[in-house]
Amino acid sequence: MPISIKLGIAGRLFTAALACRTLAATVPTGRLFIQSTSPEVPLYVYTPIPESGLEPRNIHLSFGDNETSVVVTWSTRNDTQSQVQLMSVQPPNATEKLYNGSSTIFVDSGTKKATQYVHRVTLPDLGWGGLFKYRCGSQATGWSDWFEFRTPKRGFSPRLAMFGDMGMVNAQSLPRLMQDASAGMYDAILHVGDFAYDMQEQDGATGDQFMQMIQPIAARLPYMTCVGNHEFMYNFSHYKNRFTMPKGFGGDGESMFYSFDLGPAHIIGISTEFYFFVEYGVDQLKSQYDWLQADLERASKNRAARPWIIIMGHRPMYCSNDDGDDCTFGALFMREGFLARWYPLEPLLQKYGVDLALWAHEHTYERMWPVTRLEVRNGSWAEPYSEPRGTVHVVTGSAGCRERHDTFGSPMYYSAFRSTDYGYTRMQIFNSTHLSLEQVSDDQQGRIIDRITIVQHNHGPFP
Ligand SMILES: *[C@@H]1O[C@H](CO)[C@@H](O)[C@H](O)[C@H]1NC(C)=O
Ligand SMILES: *[C@@H]1O[C@H](CO)[C@@H](O)[C@H](O)[C@H]1NC(C)=O
Ligand SMILES: *[C@@H]1O[C@H](CO)[C@@H](O)[C@H](O)[C@H]1NC(C)=O
Ligand SMILES: *[C@@H]1O[C@H](CO)[C@@H](O)[C@H](O)[C@H]1NC(C)=O
Ligand SMILES: *[C@@H]1O[C@H](CO)[C@@H](O)[C@H](O)[C@H]1NC(C)=O
Ligand SMILES: *[C@@H]1O[C@H](CO)[C@@H](O)[C@H](O)[C@H]1NC(C)=O
Ligand SMILES: *[C@@H]1O[C@H](CO)[C@@H](O)[C@H](O)[C@H]1NC(C)=O
Ligand SMILES: [Fe+2]
Repeated sequence: MPISIKLGIAGRLFTAALACRTLAATVPTGRLFIQSTSPEVPLYVYTPIPESGLEPRNIHLSFGDNETSVVVTWSTRNDTQSQVQLMSVQPPNATEKLYNGSSTIFVDSGTKKATQYVHRVTLPDLGWGGLFKYRCGSQATGWSDWFEFRTPKRGFSPRLAMFGDMGMVNAQSLPRLMQDASAGMYDAILHVGDFAYDMQEQDGATGDQFMQMIQPIAARLPYMTCVGNHEFMYNFSHYKNRFTMPKGFGGDGESMFYSFDLGPAHIIGISTEFYFFVEYGVDQLKSQYDWLQADLERASKNRAARPWIIIMGHRPMYCSNDDGDDCTFGALFMREGFLARWYPLEPLLQKYGVDLALWAHEHTYERMWPVTRLEVRNGSWAEPYSEPRGTVHVVTGSAGCRERHDTFGSPMYYSAFRSTDYGYTRMQIFNSTHLSLEQVSDDQQGRIIDRITIVQHNHGPFP
């Protein structure tokens, strides 16, 4: 298995953890039918990518530098112009507006050196509470289908769906997520690392197929991402080239670390992978850490406007799975830094009172009691979490992939709820004091198996 020899210094410590995580499966090239566990959820029928070379594919949205700006990203095989036609449906406006953008050439590093052009068009300042339709492509080479999206209403309470570890094969949560999305249940999606399994396979065709599979959701809702270990090949080139995360608060400009404001929250995406794939450069640990500290400093001064600070990254700081070293040495690196020493993240979570930390990587769902520096804090041991004095950590990596489920060891003292069911997490940030999470089980026909509200009137540093 090539992964084990590609892991580098830190990675070699964790080879055992990864070796058992691969299950051979080939990606079907034809139509793919994904059946939900519930009869009322429509069958997802995936139709392969158009191969004309000019036709837009892998269309997805992300937030621009503010909540009323959207970036459309897509790809073509051939070099075409990058244009978006936008029409306002609500309020109605029959005149479409043309936006120009730009493209970058992306060459996969596999033997075929498969080439594609990734197009990005920013639709800035669309205003609150609008309903739009758009298509992308170009006047000269043709357009995609039309897709609708909304901008949030002023003063909205953001609703998000979040999950990690979703693959092309066995994407268990996808049919229900599609149904939720078409019912208008969300303002955005958070995909917390590990896509496609793996995007660079078949000279990148697996990545193209995955992005096409997710398009019905991602072309209608901002699809906000962070990087996982499965994106490690070629210095994370597939991840960096395919996504367009916001740059308004700085970051690396390649979607590896960045942040954005959403309603009453400031949301940060980081690369936990810098701590493990150190052969790509230890300097990245420092640049991410320095940026994160500055971003948290700025966000903590803006807490009156955006009281919730939420961080997402792929590998957990806390978990109780028994599938190797992820929840022992891996989590230690996440809390205490590379080799338990350099650029430790948990002191930052404590100093700036990060309210919620979202992780994945373990193919399970686990909610912790509010915990800081291995200590379960006040405001715990009951629903709701009332005025917690520690970060609430949640691991949600069970959307389904070819590696299937992980298993748990004995619960840790910080484990509050655990499930090995396939599923995903819904979050609603009601206002400055109330945020709720619920876990949807795909194994149990969409039943909510866990629900927690966090009530916090005193956002700020933890003791
Ligand atoms: C919002 O973000 C867009 C880019 O995404 C930028 O062009 C625009 O100037 C920003 N607007 C404000 C009011 O900051
Ligand atoms: C796309 O590019 C390829 C390779 O350069 C070329 O052979 C082909 O004719 C192009 N297709 C179209 C439709 O322009
Ligand atoms: C709506 O119509 C006006 C002209 O009446 C135009 O200037 C504007 O760009 C249009 N907006 C959109 C989003 O189509
Ligand atoms: C977009 O690009 C086209 C083709 O290059 C050009 O004709 C048009 O004026 C541009 N439109 C805008 C709004 O920049
Ligand atoms: C990997 O990518 C980062 C950021 O693009 C760069 O700084 C680093 O030098 C690269 N590492 C290698 C080994 O190419
Ligand atoms: C927890 O609560 C108790 C009693 O309410 C209080 O005495 C103690 O100082 C609190 N501890 C922390 C860490 O906030
Ligand atoms: C915040 O939202 C919660 C849950 O909907 C609600 O009970 C509470 O009254 C709200 N608080 C304020 C200040 O609006
Ligand atoms: Fe992972």
